[in-house]
Amino acid sequence: MFSLDDLKKKVSEQIETSFKYLKPGWQKYLDPSYIPPTPLHRDAEIQEICLKLIGFISSKATRNILIYGIPGSGKTMSFILAKKLAEELLKEKGIDDFEIVYVRASTTGGVSQVMSNICWELGRDVPKRGLSFREYMSIVEEYIENEKKYLHICVDEFDNLLVAKKELYEALLYFFTRTENLSATFITNKVDLAKEITDGRVLSTLDTINAIYFKPYTKEQVRDILRERVEQAFKEGVITNEAIEVLSERVADEGGDIRKGLSVLLFCGESLLRGERSSIDRESMEQIIMEHEILKDGELLNSTLSLSDKIVLAAIYACMLTNRENKVLSDEVFGIQDYFRKILNKTSINNDTFSVYLSRLSTAGVVEVKRVGRGRGRGMVSYIRLKYPHDSVKYMLEKDNKLRPILNYINSIIDERKKEIEERIRLAKEKRLF
Ligand SMILES: Nc1ncnc2c1ncn2[C@@H]1O[C@H](COP(=O)(O)OP(=O)(O)OP(=O)(O)O)[C@@H](O)[C@H]1O
Ligand SMILES: [Mg+2]
Repeated sequence: MFSLDDLKKKVSEQIETSFKYLKPGWQKYLDPSYIPPTPLHRDAEIQEICLKLIGFISSKATRNILIYGIPGSGKTMSFILAKKLAEELLKEKGIDDFEIVYVRASTTGGVSQVMSNICWELGRDVPKRGLSFREYMSIVEEYIENEKKYLHICVDEFDNLLVAKKELYEALLYFFTRTENLSATFITNKVDLAKEITDGRVLSTLDTINAIYFKPYTKEQVRDILRERVEQAFKEGVITNEAIEVLSERVADEGGDIRKGLSVLLFCGESLLRGERSSIDRESMEQIIMEHEILKDGELLNSTLSLSDKIVLAAIYACMLTNRENKVLSDEVFGIQDYFRKILNKTSINNDTFSVYLSRLSTAGVVEVKRVGRGRGRGMVSYIRLKYPHDSVKYMLEKDNKLRPILNYINSIIDERKKEIEERIRLAKEKRLF
């Protein structure tokens, strides 16, 4: 039975634990959207963006900046800080006939959403959808004209627009780079963004000279950045220097995405709160990184795959466990998934549908499928290899209640294997004794 007193006790215990290991506001400092007021190792880039913004605005130039860099390298953070600084400095000099607008392109909204967000930022009451690009464009032009303002627009995550029709994003680029009293910043992960553009007029006005490349953070830089966050979020000594070292090395090896480091640190905080650990040294950090990886991959499988895809994936996993092999034959997987569908009371599927599910898993990067010849005149076979860690599939099975009967079946295979191994050890010991 639910008791309010029990709940109260549990909550106050958690609060006490959090006082022991964590500082107030710890979650805020580990949130990837938190922008530190003076970030380390990006002062040169912030200064460069800021100087360019001030230069464009004070000379009313029709120019643009291209910001390149891999995810989590501080591009958005640097632009936001440079924008704030430029606004302050220009206003101090009495220049206020300008507006800097920051918008983020989304994967689904396309060019119209970017344009409508810009209009909203300019205080224009426009419909979110339904207007043509030309109509949005004239609202922006009319703003520049009527308000007598110079406009700088930053489109962050520009790559999301590349899935739209080429004519649309090229029209946007053309407008942003050819309109008087308008300049722009485009932020992208693609170093070769220019290759996506085929319109010669757009290419000729895109200021590739004004490109700022955000180099991936080195291990030492990652360490400095993460250590600062650790000091803000955790009580002294809770996370050792060696633990930060291990994490920084991992983050730098994977490309230097600070978000990954922050996400592991958040996971550390949650683990402390759950009372699983009282401090984090080198070894527990290695353990946490592994757990975090499994959880992340497992969550992804659990939340993105359909039930049918999950059944196929569970069958691949079961075959791997039974055969003790890393690659399995697709025919064998077909048989096992058919059995799994039966125990879940699902109707059977034919081979063609199975191939569709398999290719979906392959496109999603979960498995790799290879067709290999059986030998002269004996046809082809398909081998499947799992690209995700085994434990992430187990995590998915544990999380999705609908898959419970399959999980029981797989646990019985694991138990059998354990018993077999124990038996072999016992026999080996006996042999040694006699
Ligand atoms: N130099 C730094 N100092 C402190 N924190 C940083 C630094 N660089 C990045 N971060 C942290 O990482 C977060 C993510 O950085 P940011 O959003 O700027 O990455 P990005 O380069 O824009 O990535 P994406 O290409 O995925 O959009 C920041 O909000 C900040 O919390
Ligand atoms: Mg960004």
